[in-house]
Formats: sequence, C-alpha cells, structure tokens
Amino acid sequence: MSFDYKVADLGLAEAGRHQIRLAEHEMPGLMSIRNEFAESQPLKGAKIAGSLHMTVQTAVLIETLTALGAEVRWASCNIYSTQDEAAAAIVVGAGTPEDPQGVPVFAWKGETLEEYWDCTEQILTWADDAAPNMILDDGGDATMLVHKGKEWEAAGQVPPTTEEDSEEFTVFKALVRRTLETDPQKWTKVAATIKGVTEETTTGVHRLYQLAEAGELLFPAINVNDAVTKSKFDNKYGTRHSVLDGLNRATDVLVGGKVAVVAGYGDVGKGVSAALAGQGARVVVTEVDPICALQAAMDGFQVTTMEQAATYGDIFVTTTGCYDVITADHMAAMKNKAIVSNIGHFDNEIDMAGLGRTEGITKTEIKPQVHEWTYPDGRSIIVLSEGRLMNLGNATGHPSFVMSNSFANQTIAQIELFGKAEEYVDSDGNPSVTVLPKHLDEKVARLHLDALGVELTELTKAQAEYLGVDVAGPYKPEHYRY
Ligand code: NAI
Repeated sequence: MSFDYKVADLGLAEAGRHQIRLAEHEMPGLMSIRNEFAESQPLKGAKIAGSLHMTVQTAVLIETLTALGAEVRWASCNIYSTQDEAAAAIVVGAGTPEDPQGVPVFAWKGETLEEYWDCTEQILTWADDAAPNMILDDGGDATMLVHKGKEWEAAGQVPPTTEEDSEEFTVFKALVRRTLETDPQKWTKVAATIKGVTEETTTGVHRLYQLAEAGELLFPAINVNDAVTKSKFDNKYGTRHSVLDGLNRATDVLVGGKVAVVAGYGDVGKGVSAALAGQGARVVVTEVDPICALQAAMDGFQVTTMEQAATYGDIFVTTTGCYDVITADHMAAMKNKAIVSNIGHFDNEIDMAGLGRTEGITKTEIKPQVHEWTYPDGRSIIVLSEGRLMNLGNATGHPSFVMSNSFANQTIAQIELFGKAEEYVDSDGNPSVTVLPKHLDEKVARLHLDALGVELTELTKAQAEYLGVDVAGPYKPEHYRY
C-alpha cells in the first residue's frame, strides 16, 4: 500500500506503538465503543479529515475511527503539539517503517505556520478527486479553511492582506490564494461533500455558533465540547494535570509559595487554579464575568485585574479564549524571571507580536519552546511555547483517561452526524450546532466508572417516579449545570 504522509521520523513508530498500547488501557470508554461498533461498522464510507493535536491519545481515537470503518487523513491543530512517535506509529500501522500501512498523517512537532496550513490543506485533499465527507476539528481551523475558501472563491479573490492581519491570518490568506490559482472551485467542491463537523473545543465551538448566527454555517455541527463529559472533565481535570506537567517540563520551577496569576475562571481556569493551589501557590484570578469572579472568590482565590497582578505575579497562565489578555505593557511591568504562559486555544491571549516590538528587547532560546525575553534594563521574563498552549507545547497534553471521555464523545458524534446529518438542522432546515443528547453523555460517563471502582446507586422504580425521571436516565433536565 502506498500513500502520502508527512511526519518527523517513521523510525519512532515502535516507541509510539508502546505508548499507544498503554494508552488503550487507560481509555476504557473509547475502547468499549470500539468493541460495541466493531461489527456494525457505522463509519463505513466516512472520509474523515481530522485536525486535532496528534498525540498518543489521538492515535487511539484515530484507530477507533478506522476500526469503525472510516478512512482518515490527520493533521495537528497546533504547530507544537504533535508527539512525533505517535504520528509515526499511526502512519506505520500494521506495516513497518519501510512499508507503512496505516493512516496518512501530516504533523510533526515544530511546524512553521506555512507548514501548518499546508498540513491542514492536505487533510482536506484526497486522492483521485475524492473529497472528505466529515471533519473532526479542534479549534475550527479546518472548518474555517473550507468556509473562508468557499467564500473567497465565490468572490473570485482573497481579500488583500492588511496591517491588522496577524502573521497567521496572512499565511492563511496566502494558502487560499494559492489554492484559488490551482483550482478555483476547490473549497466549493469540498464544502459540498462535507456532511458535518464535530468540534472539540470551546474556541472552535464559539466560531461555529458565530457562523450559524450569521446564517453562514455550510454544514451541521456537533458541539462535542459542551458534552458534560467533555468540558467538565477534559477542560477542568485535564488541565489540572497538564498545566503542571507543562510548567515542570519547561522550567522545573517550584510552584509552592509563588504567586500564580490565572486569567479566566471558566472550566479551564478552575482546573488550572486548583492545580496551582494544590502545589501551594498563592493563586490570584482575573475575570470579566461577575459569576466566575464570584466563584473564584468563594473558592478562596483573590480576584484582581491583570494591571495589578502583572506587577507581583511569579507565574502567569491565561485560560480565557480571549485575546490581548496579557499585553506588552503588562509584561514590561512584570518581575524579573516571571513565567508567562497560555493554555487557551490560540496564541493571541498573550500579545507576542507586541512583546517582539518592545524596543531593545532580546530573545534567547533556553530550549525549544522555552524563551527568555530580556529588557534593556537586564530584567527578563520566560515565555513558554511562544504563547501557544503550553500543556501541549511544553508537555504532552492531557492524560489518556480524561481524553477517553472527550474522544468517546467525538466518536459518538461522528457516528451520529455521518449516519443522520439531515436531522441536525434547525426549524428552518438550516445546518445547526447541536450538543449530543444527555443519554449519550451519561453513557460516556458510565463507560468510565468500572475502571475507577465506582459503585453506582440505582434508583428504585418508585424513586424514579418520585423524581420524574426514568430508572435508566437521563437523570437531569437540560438546564441542569453540573
Ligand atoms: P470558558 O468560557 O469556560 O472560560 C473562559 C473564561 O475566561 C470565562 O469565564 C470568561 O469570562 C473569562 N475571560 C474572557 N475574557 C477574559 C479576559 N479578558 N480577562 C479575564 N477573563 C476573561 O472556556 P474554557 O472551556 O475554560 O476554555 C478556555 C480556553 O481554553 C478556550 O480557548 C479553549 O478552547 C481552551 N482549552 C484548552 C485546553 C488545553 O488542553 N490547552 C483544553 C480545553 C479547552
């Protein structure tokens, strides 16, 4: 079998396979879905373009999708997040490095922005004029490429680059300009074959709702992020683990006693704050939402503004999904050797461009993804992963068990949309953004209980009637917030 792919080194496949094997043991939800649907092959005929951090856990997801009948092409959704051994193992599959027989992956740790967007184009470009019919997205970049590509094809041109465009958007525009020259209908054709997208994260979901509200969503979407077993677990307990992993691998700084400033107290901010507090840091939170600010205060954290905290924090972590949360001015006010990092999806939470423009500043690489920025007065700050998500840039992201919840939701969402995309429309028949039904959310949780030795109480019929629910669930109304 010959197929195209681009990864760092197929020689890493064996190491990757060992890690995948161990991860499978820690991913009971995903593996049980693999068993449940092995015979019925609900994804037979699915051609999935996947854009999600190419880690060991994602490898288990990819092999679950193919075990259910799907064909898959994969890229990472971040230039630093690929685990090269996982990417190699997925390409090699049941073959050897000399004769790979797995899945086309286009991802390696440390891509340039140009390479990143080329890889995203690759997953949407199938051999022999075939096109993908499903997208599995994390952050919405693959979805954006199809939407913007189609929009600009209809306009006959890509809008000129302006000074306001970020470096990333400039590269993105250049890519679409190139595809327009080689095939002026490329994205229009791809858009026509896509049945739907399942989206992994808060930031990507936000983009999808914006498209739907503007009436511009081209195909239905399942919001995987807002499954309770995703955002209340991965975003919270996942980051509670991986934020420390990122900090430790990057700097090995002692967290206890330090002032840790966490921007945002949503699901991720709650996990990050708990982790840092657990290490003995004095956690300070910044928030814009009075409800989340009050939650932070009642969880025992001081809540203040970044203007204040910038001057005395030792460790900074942004978790907002917003932009310019830490500005160049904030960084200029920081203590010597303050550590600045972001765990939100995109790199614009920290104004890296503004930092680079600071007069007289110099940048020293301590090691890959750890940089010291020194001001003319000799003070310096340490920036992790160039402002990109540090738990995946400096470490290996969330551990398998929590990702088993997220990816069980992803797999169920792919099955749902591939099988009945036509049902995922609003009352006017337009493509909609939908959260998975609660009984499936409860199913995902159920699949993880045995592994943790949980003994679940069962409602009696009389108790169920008293509560007005079914003995088998769902147990909560839609408006319940967990
Ligand atoms: P969320 O919406 O629950 O929380 C974000 C919080 O930030 C909100 O409470 C909001 O009020 C606050 N906020 C917004 N702008 C702010 C500002 N300028 N200053 C202070 N606070 C501000 O979102 P969630 O689920 O916590 O996700 C946050 C980000 O993390 C998203 O970009 C998401 O995609 C990403 N994410 C990253 C993961 C990782 O492994 N690195 C895992 C899961 C999510």
